[in-house]
Amino acid sequence: MQIKFKSEPINGPVKPATVIFLTQGEEDPFDNRKELASFRILLNPHLTSGVFKACHLDVLTLFFAPDTWLVVVGLGKEEALTEAKLMEAGAKAAKEILSLKIKEAFVLLPKLQYYPSKVLELLTTGLLLGISPRFSYKSTPADHVALRTITIQSLSSQNVIDRAKSYINRAEAMAEAQLNARRLTDQPADRLTPEAFAQEAVALGLQKKLKVTVWDPEKLEIEKAGGVLAVGKGSVNSPRLVIMEYQGAAGLGAQAPKVLIGKGVTFDSGGLCLKPGENMALMKTDMAGAAVVLSVMSAAATLKLAHRLVAIIPLAENMPSGSAYRPGDIVKMLSGSNVEIVNTDAEGRLLLADALALALRYHPKLIVDVATLTGACQVALGDQVAGLFCDDVDLRTKLIEAGQSVGEALWQLPLFDAYDENLKSEIADFSHAASRAGGAINAALFLRRFVKNVPWAHIDIAGTSRCARKRPSCPEGPTGFAVRTLIKYLTNLT
Ligand code: BES
Ligand code: MN
Ligand code: ZN
Repeated sequence: MQIKFKSEPINGPVKPATVIFLTQGEEDPFDNRKELASFRILLNPHLTSGVFKACHLDVLTLFFAPDTWLVVVGLGKEEALTEAKLMEAGAKAAKEILSLKIKEAFVLLPKLQYYPSKVLELLTTGLLLGISPRFSYKSTPADHVALRTITIQSLSSQNVIDRAKSYINRAEAMAEAQLNARRLTDQPADRLTPEAFAQEAVALGLQKKLKVTVWDPEKLEIEKAGGVLAVGKGSVNSPRLVIMEYQGAAGLGAQAPKVLIGKGVTFDSGGLCLKPGENMALMKTDMAGAAVVLSVMSAAATLKLAHRLVAIIPLAENMPSGSAYRPGDIVKMLSGSNVEIVNTDAEGRLLLADALALALRYHPKLIVDVATLTGACQVALGDQVAGLFCDDVDLRTKLIEAGQSVGEALWQLPLFDAYDENLKSEIADFSHAASRAGGAINAALFLRRFVKNVPWAHIDIAGTSRCARKRPSCPEGPTGFAVRTLIKYLTNLT
C-alpha cells in the first residue's frame, strides 16, 4: 500500500471514495468550493438533522453514485482535539476504507489549528497503522487486502504544503518502525530467545549498514556483566547483549553519541519468585523496550538522522530452575557494585544497570532507556501514559514535547531522593528492590545509581507497551509505544 500526496486541490467527487474529517459544529467541511457542492448537498441533511454529530471517531459512509463513496470521520470538538486523537482519526478512516474493499481512496486534509504539515504527518501515520493487521502465526492467512493507494489531497489551494513528500516519508518510517516493534514484541518466547533477538539485530545491521556487536555468555563473563548473567542463569536460553552503532549522516566527526537502552527480557516468569499463572503469557512482551530501541535504530538509518547513536540491548530469559539466581544472592554488577537480590522478579533493572554502566564507556551526550519495568507504573498511569523519570530539564522537556507532537503521552514521575534509603542493604553496597510502595520510583532510583553526571531519562512503558482495549491505530496487544516519540525527539534535536 502506498500513500501519495497530490499538490493540486481536489476538483470534484472522485471514484471510488473521498474521505473527509469533520470537527463538531463545523458547517462547511468543503470550504465553500463550488466543485464540491454535490458533496455538500449529500452531507448537509445528516448534519442539520443532528444524525451525524462528528464526535471523535464517529463515521458516516454515504453513497454518492455507483462506485463513489463519501466517508466522513468525526474529530470531535476542535478545542478538544489532540495529536493522538487526530492520528487515531486517520486510523479510523483507514479501517473504513478497508471495509469498503476498494483499491484506492482520496483523503482530504482538514483545516485545523495545527500546521498543515503536522496534520499530514499525523494522518499518514494513522492511516498506515490503521490498515496494518496484527502479526500472527495463523496457518490460514488473513483476507487479501485490495487497497493499493491512498492519495492525500488538500481541499483548496490555500493549504498546499511545501515538501509534503518529506513529511510522508517520515510518517512512513515512523509507522514502519512502530509496526516492526509490535511484530517483535508479539513474538512468543519459544521463538524469540535472547539469541534469536540478537540475530534480528544482526540481520537489521546488515540491511541498514549498522555496526552490530553481540556479546555471548563467554564475553559477558569476560566483561563481568554480572546483572545480565544473573538474570539469564536460570534459563536454557542463554543471555546476550547487543550493541548497535549508527554513525549518523556524514560529517559528524567525533560527536559524542546518544545512547538508547532497551530492556530485553524475552520472557519474565518472575524466576524463583514466580509470578501467578494468570496473565503470565503477557510476559513474552517484556522485551518491548528492546524492540522499540532496535526499531528506532532502523528508522534512524532510513531517515539518515544526523546523530551518532549507540543502542545497548541486554537480553535474558528470567526463569526458575536449579541454576536460577535466588533472593539473597549478591551479584557483582558490570559497574563493580555488589547488589543484594531481594526479589528475582525485579530482573529488568539488573539488565538495565549493566547496560547503563556500559553506556558510560562511550562518553555519551545523553542516555535514554525504555523498559517495561514496573507493575507499579502500569497501575499508576494505565495504558496510554508512560512514566518519565528525568532530572535533566532540557532532555525532559524535549522528550515530553516530542511525545506530545506524535500523540504519545509521557508523564514525569519523581526521582524522589528520600526514597533512595529504601535500597539500603546490610550486607551489600545496596539492594535492588524495596517495598511495593513507590515501586516505579524505587526502580528508577536503583537505575540512577549507575548513571554518572550524564543527562539520562528512564521511560517506564510497563503500562503503555500493550493496549488493553483495541484502538483504530492498534489491535489489542503490543503497541510499539515510544518508537515515534524517540524518532521525533531525535529528528527535532540539532
Ligand atoms: N516485567 C515486570 C513489570 C511489568 C508488569 C511489565 C506488568 C508489564 C506489565 C517486571 O520485571 C516486574 O516483575 N517488576 C516487579 C518488581 C517488584 C518485584 C519489585 C513488579 O512491578 O511487580
Ligand atoms: Mn519481573
Ligand atoms: Zn520484567
